Amino acid sequence: MSATVLQIAYLLSAVLFIVGLKMLSSARTATRGNAIAALGMGVAIVTTLIGQGVLGWEYIIGGVALGSAIGAFTALRVKMTSMPEMVALLNGSGGVASALVAGAELLSYADRGESPAGMVATAIVLSTLIGGLTLTGSLIAFLKLAEKMPGRPITYPGQQFVNAIIGLGVVALCVMVATSPLELGPFWALAGIALVLGVLLVIPIGGADMPVVISLLNSYSGIAACATGFVLNNTGLVIGGTLVGASGLILTKIMCDAMNRSLGNVLFGAFGAAPAGGSSAAGGEEQGTVKGYTPEDAAVIFSNASSCIIVPGYGMAVAQAQHAVRELADLLEEKGITCRFAIHPVAGRMPGHMNVLLAEADVNYEKLIEMDNINPEFPQTDVALVIGANDVVNPSARSDESSPIYGMPILDVDRAQHVFVIKRSMNPGFAGVQNPLFFNENTMMVFGDAKATVLALVNAVRAY
Ligand code: TAP
Repeated sequence: MSATVLQIAYLLSAVLFIVGLKMLSSARTATRGNAIAALGMGVAIVTTLIGQGVLGWEYIIGGVALGSAIGAFTALRVKMTSMPEMVALLNGSGGVASALVAGAELLSYADRGESPAGMVATAIVLSTLIGGLTLTGSLIAFLKLAEKMPGRPITYPGQQFVNAIIGLGVVALCVMVATSPLELGPFWALAGIALVLGVLLVIPIGGADMPVVISLLNSYSGIAACATGFVLNNTGLVIGGTLVGASGLILTKIMCDAMNRSLGNVLFGAFGAAPAGGSSAAGGEEQGTVKGYTPEDAAVIFSNASSCIIVPGYGMAVAQAQHAVRELADLLEEKGITCRFAIHPVAGRMPGHMNVLLAEADVNYEKLIEMDNINPEFPQTDVALVIGANDVVNPSARSDESSPIYGMPILDVDRAQHVFVIKRSMNPGFAGVQNPLFFNENTMMVFGDAKATVLALVNAVRAY
């Protein structure tokens, strides 16, 4: 394959990646976007295999067979709620693959006694460092999410100092490897310290912040791949890695903005280590009288309603109530009540969590309305039905400057005529703060598991 054809093929795969990514930004086109991006990856793989002088087909075929079998097995088995864990493992694998390829290149330079050019040596350093820490950081994120290690932030006295010393060591090793790449001692030390760094950077972060960390590590795995692309002089890898790196960073920023937290606060704030301060912080602190209602009481209100906005949250995911919720929405529509879903960007525990669950239950995506578009609708809405959501509907984020979630954009459910909240108890959500919404005059709490309660509500509305 001539060099020109090779570059054109990589360019084609890059175009397919970009078109695929663009299409992933809308539920309507996401499935096709995924297929187009996969096609781009297929073009890149075939181009590399045909054009780059493959040394041993047996390893490639064996690797593809083994990797595909493991990938298919895990993808078929993984539950939707465990998707962030799987993504963590995939990021870790991507990071270490890049680091191993870059390391192998260095060893092959050393075998030949030939020193790599300055830029290649720098790329080897970056790939080893970022790929190594992505592996161990992702493993810790996986263990925290899978609750195989404590999810709370692990902090100790002098932690920042220890990290600073290690940081200085890393800088020194990077300079040594980049300037004298054929001395392999510093290279192995850098690889080892990168693995340690991944652990140290992620242990002080709370389990519930892991989706943000995973998105960041996803970006790191892309940057490591991009660096390895420079090591191998492979345009496809440089472009693919850059796209992963950039999109991971953008997603990380979107998640932080939606929580009104800086990336620094997520990474170094040890969120969840101790009870947060502020007047509204105490987890179960009572703030007035709570009115408990039955699904039958709720059905009475629905019988006089003409509009409803359903607000799903983490509790709907935990209870796997999405199918029951769809049934309820269909029933309400049958009864002449317009029914839409308000989607908060960080409802649940992973990006697009609510969209994925509701799509699984075949809810028409035209009915899923983003926060900024649905908020002006609440004052004209008869019933806001909150199902397992808490922080994303907490009005103290608007008004209570002492609240840890002050400034986080929320869904304005408290402005609806009637608010029903389905949850099991008065327990707080992820942020650990009590929610004044539950004590409002127009709020009716319907206590119970989301799935069982929504099904009871379906029966009550049907019977009414
Ligand atoms: P949360 O504020 O975490 O509240 C979820 C509520 O669901 C809890 O108060 C819980 O109350 C209830 N619940 C749990 N299991 C239930 C069940 N089986 N049936 C009924 N209710 C149940 O959830 P949210 O409003 O979706 O907010 C998400 C939070 O996660 C935000 O603070 C966000 O910043 C954070 N976060 C999100 C992400 C992403 S990317 N989505 C990433 C990191 C952090 P009971 O125990 O009383 O039932």
